[in-house]
Amino acid sequence: MKNIDWSTLGFHYTEPDYIVRSACHDGKWEEPYATQDKYLHLHVSATCLQYGQEAFEGLKAFRGVDGKIRIFRWRDNAKRMAKSAEGLFMKAVPEELFGRAIRLALKKNIDFVPPYGTGATLYFRPLLIGTTPRLGVGPGHDFEFIIIPSPIGPYYPGKFHCTTFIVNRYVDRAAPYGTGQFKVGGNYASSFRATEAAHAMGMDCIFLDARYHTYIDECSAANFIGIKKPSAISHQNSEIEYLTPRSSAILPSITNDSLMTLARERGYKVTRRRIRLEELAQMSEAAACGTACVISPIDQVIDSERNKIYSFGAEPGPVLTELYRALQDIQYGRAEDKHGWCEVFSI
Ligand code: PLP
Ligand code: COI
Repeated sequence: MKNIDWSTLGFHYTEPDYIVRSACHDGKWEEPYATQDKYLHLHVSATCLQYGQEAFEGLKAFRGVDGKIRIFRWRDNAKRMAKSAEGLFMKAVPEELFGRAIRLALKKNIDFVPPYGTGATLYFRPLLIGTTPRLGVGPGHDFEFIIIPSPIGPYYPGKFHCTTFIVNRYVDRAAPYGTGQFKVGGNYASSFRATEAAHAMGMDCIFLDARYHTYIDECSAANFIGIKKPSAISHQNSEIEYLTPRSSAILPSITNDSLMTLARERGYKVTRRRIRLEELAQMSEAAACGTACVISPIDQVIDSERNKIYSFGAEPGPVLTELYRALQDIQYGRAEDKHGWCEVFSI
């Protein structure tokens, strides 16, 4: 195992030994191969550079309590990347090839899988770019698929603690029928003006729907979850509601999908619909969720333009804490993987 201070790792790039690459020409993908060279020899007019023909993914491998390494839901990332490829007129990476590339990246960087109990994981960043040289506006027909592994720690500093979010109305992340549902670099570049301003204040951003600036879309790099529950101390699980936005402009989060399944299993009511920002006042807990941040509870949402603060308490609430534990128990092999979400890696 590499000599890394695993428990102090943040969500930052640590150079792995190998990346994995596969090129596509004439509609055919080559077999993925590992290389130590982290640089591309890319034409200056490649469509990824000129017209943003690029998509990416994010998934993790966990070292479990039993010492086994589990890759979480990679097939869903492969499927989502295929959708992003379709959205940007790129050739989809075949699912099995995606899987072989991830396994090869893991095998070649096995010493970068953090030990159990450190809170760190091996993150994979699959990347798909258009490489055809082109100046005329339009898509290319050559592509490169790359897996960049890196050990990472928590996305938000601290293991499971609250982050403050600020409502943003001056930058739209993605249009209603634009590229928000795809995981493409342009969505992140377009949000930088808002996210960097929020980060400078020690917060992160909540984006509203771009048409009305009324409904919650998502957080900058995560979906939004809210919990509504009766104020009475004694209540049934069926009275607890897990709410998450429905919008054509947000990324279908695999973490959110997993949490919805776990919430339903516990008898909670799971609702996906448009959520007005003001509804935050009726929620007892709120969080951002995604591969990088898992569940990141929110203590406050600040709407400075309307002079409003929505508060959810300084500590993570009980429902989200329970779901966080349930998800991590599966990822770390502490609980049965009933849904077949994890692939146990064997060399
Ligand atoms: N929304 C955005 C904009 C993201 O960048 C991410 C991260 O991947 C998510 C949501 C969460 O998706 P997932 O749970 O699949 O990682
Ligand atoms: C992830 O959660 O995997 C992401 O890709 C979000 C962000 C770091 C881009």
